[in-house]
Amino acid sequence: MKEQLEAIRKSALDAIGATGASAELEALRVKYLGKKGELTAVLKQMGSLSAELRPVMGQMANDVRASLEKAIETQSAVLAEKAMEARLALETVDVTIPGKTVEVGHKHPMYTALDEFNEIFINMGFEIMDGPEVEQADYNFTKLNTPDDHPAREWSDTFYLDEESRTLLRTQTSPMQIRAMETHGVPIRMISPGRVYRKDEVDATHSPMFHQIEGLVVDKGITMADLKGTLNAVIREIYGSGTKTRFRPHHFPFTEPSCEVDIQCHKCGGQGCPTCKGEGWIEVLGAGMVHPKVLRNCGIDPDEYSGFAFGFGLERMAMGRFKISDLRLIFENDVRFLEQF
Ligand code: DAH
Repeated sequence: MKEQLEAIRKSALDAIGATGASAELEALRVKYLGKKGELTAVLKQMGSLSAELRPVMGQMANDVRASLEKAIETQSAVLAEKAMEARLALETVDVTIPGKTVEVGHKHPMYTALDEFNEIFINMGFEIMDGPEVEQADYNFTKLNTPDDHPAREWSDTFYLDEESRTLLRTQTSPMQIRAMETHGVPIRMISPGRVYRKDEVDATHSPMFHQIEGLVVDKGITMADLKGTLNAVIREIYGSGTKTRFRPHHFPFTEPSCEVDIQCHKCGGQGCPTCKGEGWIEVLGAGMVHPKVLRNCGIDPDEYSGFAFGFGLERMAMGRFKISDLRLIFENDVRFLEQF
């Protein structure tokens, strides 16, 4: 029996040490230590032993069982370690490989300028209104006191959409004055930014599509002083508090009197330089008191109400604000340019 036990110990320890997977190890545990296992089979023969031999063999059998259990435990730890190493090797991540950067865009400089502009007017209690780019000639011209034979209505200047010249791509945001008065009624304080279209060749200061911001205030007792006060306040917000302005008489069919507003050149302080083309002044907008005929065209009594209107060029404003020298850069959308803002 002693030899039997020694033989079991030896073969079991060899087999346990040679296992490569925990399933094999479990099979060996059953094979040697299980209820029907080899060691159990030997122990069943204990009854046939003499009284002196029985405790000795019993002790030896317990030793064998203990050494097998210990070996299984040790081997189990070894296998678990190996399995972990294999898994780590398989799932290795090289944290030094450069990642894929996601390019995040940002607001276009012209829209930055527009947002600042909107903010100024919202703070002054103006509403922002939106209107169609495909417009009726009636709104773009007629109701704005611009008669049929006015040169601005020429086919050479305007993108008409039908033979009868009834619909067109709006040449200005001024039709929004009419739409605002018709839909909103008076009193009103609104601005309306948007695209306008003219048959112009592309160059450093012209584009067949550009943006304007229309403004309109109508109420009882509005005067030229309100126009000047409002526009001076806005211009100083945009171009700096020390900016000098000049209100120069001009003609627009839909305002009377009309003016153009210039700011003193911030580059040369009025001396004349390339930025202001030697003028000392830079034109920034057109404005005027809303023509009584325009008020009447919208069903508003000019004896009761008066108002002022103005039109800013958005690109020109953004170019001044960001010192951009060529209008084309604003529309070409070259990221090398846009990234600078
Ligand atoms: N619509 C004019 C233009 O495109 C600009 C303008 C001038 C708008 C005077 C106005 C205004 O509202 O009162 O040249």
